[in-house]
Amino acid sequence: MKRLTKKLAMATIAMLGCLSSSVWAEEAKSPSLTDKALKHEKLGVVVESANHKFAEKYPLQYNSWKATSESTDRGSALEVDPRYVVLWAGYLFSAEYNKPRGHYYAVTDVREILRTGAPKDENDGPQPMACWTCKGPDVPRLIEEKGERGYFDPKWAKYGAEIVNSIGCADCHDTKSKEFEEGKPALRVARPHVLRALETVGWKFEDLDKHGKRVAVCANCHVEYYFKGKTDVTFPWDKGVDVASIEKYYDEIEFADWTHALSKAPMLKAQHPDFEVWSQGVHGKNGVTCIDCHMPKVKDKDGKVYTDHKIGNPFDQFDVTCKTCHEQSKETLEKRVKEHKHQVKEAMIRLEDQLVKAHFEAKAAWDAGATQEEMKDILTAIRHAQWRWDYSAAGHGSHMHAPDAMLHVIATGIDRAADARAKLGVVLAKHGVTTPVAIPDISTREKAQKAIGLNMPKLETDKAEFLRTVVPQWDAEARKKGLLPAVEEPNAIAAPKAEAK
Ligand code: HEC
Ligand code: HEC
Ligand code: HEC
Ligand code: HEC
Repeated sequence: MKRLTKKLAMATIAMLGCLSSSVWAEEAKSPSLTDKALKHEKLGVVVESANHKFAEKYPLQYNSWKATSESTDRGSALEVDPRYVVLWAGYLFSAEYNKPRGHYYAVTDVREILRTGAPKDENDGPQPMACWTCKGPDVPRLIEEKGERGYFDPKWAKYGAEIVNSIGCADCHDTKSKEFEEGKPALRVARPHVLRALETVGWKFEDLDKHGKRVAVCANCHVEYYFKGKTDVTFPWDKGVDVASIEKYYDEIEFADWTHALSKAPMLKAQHPDFEVWSQGVHGKNGVTCIDCHMPKVKDKDGKVYTDHKIGNPFDQFDVTCKTCHEQSKETLEKRVKEHKHQVKEAMIRLEDQLVKAHFEAKAAWDAGATQEEMKDILTAIRHAQWRWDYSAAGHGSHMHAPDAMLHVIATGIDRAADARAKLGVVLAKHGVTTPVAIPDISTREKAQKAIGLNMPKLETDKAEFLRTVVPQWDAEARKKGLLPAVEEPNAIAAPKAEAK
């Protein structure tokens, strides 16, 4: 463990500056635009968002970035676990929800997912511009060009021909800076709302050391956020980033993402709180960053050290990730992570089962004539229980990033669900409903979608038409403007093979 201890001490000291002040801040701080961000907006410095323009100057970084296209699997999470359909009834997540895949596909996937619908013109819904916000570097470019209101206010289809580059260079780098020109990282957070949110947890970007900056670029997107006023991406961090603090934030402003179709509970949808979950785990607490595991330093065939931009599963690169700190074998650590995954998943499914029952029981109570007054506390308990489930489920990799924290979050969720169901028992008895309440067959995605009355064929036909007619026009326009290469590049270029340092 000698190597680990040395590295640990170094990492901790290096991170103290940004972690101590801290993600766990109790007091609410009012968000304010940083001077830097303001200045930037006024200067109107335009972000260079076209990824292909960096291919020639930075082939190692570009090709390894492009190799994220090798991660192609986007399995349907609803097929794996149809309970999700019931948990999200009344919200478009119940129509389609997929596992994440390579950064290369972010724009393709947001166009193709049923949740963004099939807008016919630039003012058609259902979604706002905010749905593009974590998809690529054209977003900070547009915010610079049009201001935050000009970017956030329109509907999602308005700038479909502008947001065409997937998560790339200008999402993480100040691509117009002299340092970047010289081959240095020049890390940058270019989304003003992210800079503001980081400040509320004591992470003023300019004051962060290099480790803090590395995490902050991932926090551009791998975070929990909501659409304030239905349009503005906002991070609910004023009270802290743990599950209870965010819940309190949402309760105080009486925010709900949607009203559940069965139980009528005012629901919260978690996005992907990877940053928040990481900060509560053993690695986050010891200053081990996303970059240490997901973007290791590697050597090319001539021995030149560079940062591997093929962000994926760190076990694929064990020698340059985990092994730089741990002496255990790959098999040992992989087994440990699998065990954690199994434990977290199993607890999660128990909570899901309780929630499914609670939603159907609440519906039965309403149908039998239960009153608002009788249902009020029950609906709050369902809201809290499902928020806790979603916070642990939506943070992909949370079983690795903070398994102990997740087990605690899920345990408190099960407690809240039990509270809801105990109270429901009383209300159901009072209204003469015999228990157990019948639960329809939700054993497959299709059956579950039918049980909640979703019209899938219509959603699918409209989407196919949109992809056939609208999207090619967007791409053609973008090619004309130089936002995309004039001719489409082939997808996967094999990454330069990473060797251990
Ligand atoms: C998701 C964030 C992210 C994206 C996207 C990204 N980079 Fe990086 N890049 C980093 C990080 C993190 C480092 C390492 C920073 C450090 O060492 O402190 C880095 C380092 C670099 C460096 C410095 C030399 C090196 O290899 O360490 C260059 C040059 C670079 N990236 C170019 C690019 C180019 C070109 C693209 C687009 C094709 C790109 N990056 C996309 C995060 C990103
Ligand atoms: C601009 C937004 C953005 C930034 C910045 C960003 N990500 Fe992502 N990331 C995403 C989105 C969106 C997806 C899902 C893409 C899809 O499935 O189409 C994703 C997917 C991933 C995946 C899954 C990859 C796979 O092959 O399954 C990992 C791991 C990941 N990101 C890690 C990181 C790390 C580490 C950083 C910081 C260095 C980072 N991301 C920065 C938005 C972002
Ligand atoms: C100590 C190493 C480590 C650190 C630090 C770390 N991760 Fe991970 N992460 C992993 C491993 C390993 C996995 C895959 C777990 C598995 O195989 O079950 C993973 C999985 C993920 C996934 C899910 C990928 C998928 O396809 O489901 C995302 C997204 C992700 N990490 C993002 C991040 C972000 C963002 C940070 C920083 C805030 C971070 N990680 C910090 C090791 C790490
Ligand atoms: C930069 C150093 C560093 C890297 C890289 C790193 N770790 Fe760690 N890891 C640590 C430190 C520090 C601890 C905490 C040790 C302690 O508290 O005794 C730790 C603890 C752990 C633990 C025990 C967690 C617990 O809950 O007790 C596991 C499991 C683990 N790491 C797995 C991994 C895996 C898998 C990877 C690669 C994907 C990885 N680590 C990469 C530094 C690192």
